[in-house]
Amino acid sequence: MAVTSGTEALAAALIFGLVNLLSSGSVDVPVLGRVTTDEGGLGIFAAVVVGVFFLRAALVVAHDTVLYRLCYGAGAELEEALLRGYLTLPPRTIRRRGHAELVRNVHDTVTSVVDDCLIPSVLAVGSILTTIAILAVMISAAPLATVVAGIVFLPVLWLTTRGVRRPVRRLGEAVEASLADSLLAATETLSLAGDIRMAGRAADFGARFGTVRRDLARAYGTDQVIRAFPRLVAETVLVLLVVGYVAVTRARGSETAAVLPTLGLFAYAALRVLPSLISLAGLRHSITASGPAVETILADEPLLRAGSNPPSGAPAPGKMVLQDVTVRLPETGRLVLDRIDLELRRGDVVALVGSNGAGKSTLVDVLAGVLPPDTGAVTVDGRPLEEIEESWPTQVALIPQHVHLLDADIPTNITLDPSGRSVDQRRLATVIEAVGLEPVIDRLGGQTVGEDGRMLSGGERQRVAVARAFYRSAGLLLVDEGTSALDDAARRALVDLVHERRERSISMLVTHDPELVRACTRVIRVEAGRLRPESPAAGAAG
Ligand SMILES: Nc1ncnc2c1ncn2[C@@H]1O[C@H](COP(=O)(O)OP(=O)(O)OP(=O)(O)O)[C@@H](O)[C@H]1O
Ligand SMILES: [Mg+2]
Repeated sequence: MAVTSGTEALAAALIFGLVNLLSSGSVDVPVLGRVTTDEGGLGIFAAVVVGVFFLRAALVVAHDTVLYRLCYGAGAELEEALLRGYLTLPPRTIRRRGHAELVRNVHDTVTSVVDDCLIPSVLAVGSILTTIAILAVMISAAPLATVVAGIVFLPVLWLTTRGVRRPVRRLGEAVEASLADSLLAATETLSLAGDIRMAGRAADFGARFGTVRRDLARAYGTDQVIRAFPRLVAETVLVLLVVGYVAVTRARGSETAAVLPTLGLFAYAALRVLPSLISLAGLRHSITASGPAVETILADEPLLRAGSNPPSGAPAPGKMVLQDVTVRLPETGRLVLDRIDLELRRGDVVALVGSNGAGKSTLVDVLAGVLPPDTGAVTVDGRPLEEIEESWPTQVALIPQHVHLLDADIPTNITLDPSGRSVDQRRLATVIEAVGLEPVIDRLGGQTVGEDGRMLSGGERQRVAVARAFYRSAGLLLVDEGTSALDDAARRALVDLVHERRERSISMLVTHDPELVRACTRVIRVEAGRLRPESPAAGAAG
């Protein structure tokens, strides 16, 4: 950076010398002595000027390559760390914060921090060095003109940037909010495309998205206009200064030729120092604009340190006990689970039944360790769950109510190991056969299942989820209704798998399906967040 700035100053001095040489026929150069236009002096001087400018261009390219690679590379590292951090959040927290907000953060927010804060800050160091170096040349060549220019110029630039600070901050906030709104509007509209069309509301949803995008477009447009403001003011003031300088020198009786070298130097300085000064003024602008984005990242900063180490394994649970467990909705404080007492033992196959909204999925989340209860205790073999929360997920397999699939082939969707490095092929083949996915894999012929599994039927998606859960040998199996679309054969396969694992695990099936309930050893009913006294199981298979 210092070398680039030194070359800039050398270039400025050479321009001053060249114009001096052309206008007066000779110039004093520190190392070379007096150079005159005779005896090829002009040619040599011009060649040196061209050489220095080539060198300057090469240095600038090298400097920019290193700078931008480093800065955008750092941004990518931060984005990766942030996504890894989000993976440590409980699924409920992710749902509450919303995918749109989190996608915006790992996708756009970090990039705007790099563009508007990191890169301008690094460039500012170079700008300061270049400005000081060129100012040094200007002061030695034309001290009075430089001081006058500085006295007029700097306050004008300072006042202009100060004036735009508040609107710029508001724009930054508007952009952050509009980006999340826009992602949410696009994703939810597209995922509801069928319903929207059938309801004849395509135009309304199009207009809703358009309104959000227009807000964003307006914010971007205003931002660009405000960004150009300091440059316009600076250029106008500069022209006034040049005209004023020529007028004053002529009024004092000097020849125009005598001021030519100084004007040449000022022209080069305008070319080079002006952008530096403007970018320094713009730095304040950019940092203010990126304030909301920086605050967004800082709010998630503790997550950046999490999630780098895979959790170590926990022993399979023998007994899980819930004592006086209460869960309230954070928004309203309404009780969703109300003083739950429950004991689960290895070998249990529990059917959890109850009406919609009774609290079954909430209880599943408490057992999975992704929802800490507001009061009460959950223990695993006598140890509080919060003590083993890091390793507990390795013992939990969950077939969720809503299955989500990767746009990858079926085996990858089962193992969740995209590199395939630690796949247990025997185990994989066993679960694929058990849930009858071979014909589906053959049909796809190596193709992926499409975005969120759109190439698969509802039942096929659930089979993949069953296979995913049984591929792992977890000590707690939770099935949260991910069975509604399974046909008889697949449902029987699930029951067989559950009972094969029975001696090694605790299983809980949330279901409204009487056949699945009959296959369980215990039946627990939830009603409005309370557990009803346990009814004897209708019949225990296996
Ligand atoms: N993330 C959430 N934010 C706010 N409220 C929630 C959230 N998840 C669940 N609830 C509320 O908690 C209550 C219990 O929900 P839960 O999902 O546990 O019910 P459920 O018994 O699984 O119902 P279903 O049979 O419909 O799946 C419901 O009233 C629901 O509205
Ligand atoms: Mg549920």
